[in-house]
Amino acid sequence: MIEVEGVLVRFGGVIALNEVSARFTAPVAGIIGPNGAGKTTLMNVISGFVTATAGRILVEGEDFLALAPHRRAHRGLRRSFQKDQIADDLTVFDNVLVQLDFTLAGGAAKRAEVMRMLDVVGLADRAGRIGAELTGFERRLTDVARCLVGRPRLVMFDEPAGGLSVEETHRLGELIQGIHGLTGAQTLVIDHDVELIARVCAETLVLDFGRRIAFGPTADVLADPRVKAAYLGTEEVAP
Ligand SMILES: Nc1ncnc2c1ncn2[C@@H]1O[C@H](COP(=O)(O)OP(=O)(O)OP(=O)(O)O)[C@@H](O)[C@H]1O
Ligand SMILES: [Mg+2]
Repeated sequence: MIEVEGVLVRFGGVIALNEVSARFTAPVAGIIGPNGAGKTTLMNVISGFVTATAGRILVEGEDFLALAPHRRAHRGLRRSFQKDQIADDLTVFDNVLVQLDFTLAGGAAKRAEVMRMLDVVGLADRAGRIGAELTGFERRLTDVARCLVGRPRLVMFDEPAGGLSVEETHRLGELIQGIHGLTGAQTLVIDHDVELIARVCAETLVLDFGRRIAFGPTADVLADPRVKAAYLGTEEVAP
């Protein structure tokens, strides 16, 4: 369980997150909302790039904001960014191995784990290619493999489907849905592709101007008139 409690973030005069609370219990949960709603900021608070003015975040009961950012990675936090983090001059294999640098496991065990997760994402036969030679989708899959190694507990994807085709997005969605069964980790997904969110996320948080406007089972949330109004601007807000 991931508990977000009263998280407040200010950037100068902008309130990026306005006392946001949500208790994520689903294996895969979504975070949606219009541009500038505060979605990435929430992931930045969880991973430690941004410091909250107030509030708490508990991961399986452990106070995450009390941990230094690198400790959060040791405790199983994995993240992909809006822009992929693949080094062009490293092989696919080494791009994933980097994630395990801090672990004490022996080299053979690390290499076996990297190969296992490259196999899961379908890149085992491209393990020796360098980043510069990869397609956009292969870079994204390499990013996913990085999130799977080293016993993740919480995996966060920020707009993973950006720039992908419909078929690629489908494959990505299947991989995201498999993370819990494979590793036991809970996953949070930000995306503007509401179809993807509806397909893979059992529950969803909706942010708008830094506020929580809905949270719950994804189907209920997507049917909420306030969510439709925030998203489409075409419906009257319910009184
Ligand atoms: N480092 C920062 N300094 C100042 N303002 C920031 C910073 N990061 C985010 N903001 C502001 O905080 C608000 C929330 O931004 P955030 O990036 O979290 O939105 P988002 O929901 O991820 O949007 P998008 O869908 O466009 O990625 C915006 O008004 C943004 O301009
Ligand atoms: Mg964002």
